[in-house]
Amino acid sequence: TRVEKGGYKHFMAKEIAEQPVVLGDALHHYLRENGVNLPESLDFTGLDRLTLVACGTAFYACTVAKYWFESLAGLPCEIDVASEFRYREPPLPENSFAIFVSQSGETADTLAALRYCAEKVRKTIAVVNVATSSIARECDVALPILAGVEVGVASTKAFTCQLLVLAVMALKAGVDRGRIGPEALAAHLEALRSLPGLMNAALATSEPIVKLAERLAEAQDILFLGRGPMFPLALEGALKLKEISYIHAEGYASGELKHGPIALIDRMVPVIVMAPHDRLFDKTVSNMQEVMARHGMVLLISDAKGIAEAAEGTWATLKMPAVAEPFAPILYALPAQLLAYHTAIAKGTDVDQPRNLAKSVTVE
Ligand code: G6P
Repeated sequence: TRVEKGGYKHFMAKEIAEQPVVLGDALHHYLRENGVNLPESLDFTGLDRLTLVACGTAFYACTVAKYWFESLAGLPCEIDVASEFRYREPPLPENSFAIFVSQSGETADTLAALRYCAEKVRKTIAVVNVATSSIARECDVALPILAGVEVGVASTKAFTCQLLVLAVMALKAGVDRGRIGPEALAAHLEALRSLPGLMNAALATSEPIVKLAERLAEAQDILFLGRGPMFPLALEGALKLKEISYIHAEGYASGELKHGPIALIDRMVPVIVMAPHDRLFDKTVSNMQEVMARHGMVLLISDAKGIAEAAEGTWATLKMPAVAEPFAPILYALPAQLLAYHTAIAKGTDVDQPRNLAKSVTVE
């Protein structure tokens, strides 16, 4: 199938804008009225452990999912990048599942990691965009993320759809393991169903990002901070920016700031804080204040409540709709992607074909 840009300047812009629709498709496929729609054989009852392995953006989706499987389902998770996992001879409990997340389903390291696990665990599960791919074929169960063809080298809609499928699995795990009752499940399903609408709202109010990006384009280094499930999103925000704007960026857990990166802070270093008004908000704000005390330029991305409480002293704020706590990373992926996109535009780099990168890495 030939895919067109459909009026957008770049595939990446089109793929960012498509997210409310493709996420809606995935929701339609994976949710039933009162529950989730996953193969019965995917039973997490009594499981000792989950292992999640991937590369690049897909690995950050696994990192978010670890927070979900642990907090929603009480299921211990191990995560690793495939290139390390495949050679470190990790012992795997027999009573465990291994999940491989890959947009293309062809990444060589991820495929090798899958082959390592195949005879050792109870079940291997593929979370892939390409349903006919090697990883999909070799796993016991393959779950399509239904993002549609992704052309931009920097992954966008595949990331949010990967997150959605992993969130649905975490909910099933929570139900199977007696951690999530009918009422809590209904609330979580409602929260997931609200995401396409929230994404539309976030896209509709994303115009200020263009101006912010013009300033970011002048930076040499940029830090992204987050806590809890927003920490992996900080990593993904930094990766997106590096990939397409070639600006050095790092994602850090907010609480780790004082253990090193704070030494980098001066007037020239933008620090992007991704902090919905959640349980950990106050802690993140105090980390943010440490940055401002050293004259760092803080961009706070939060909801109305967070901005009302903590905007003072920041360089800029970006307002997001309020979102149910565990699933905030799915929504906050959008401003992270848009910041990278517009910064790259301001720098004049080749957004869809960044130098030195390939869409799919099929050699080691
Ligand atoms: C490449 C791409 C990334 C992607 C990674 C993993 O590095 O440029 O965007 O996240 O491979 O690819 P996969 O197809 O396994 O998700």
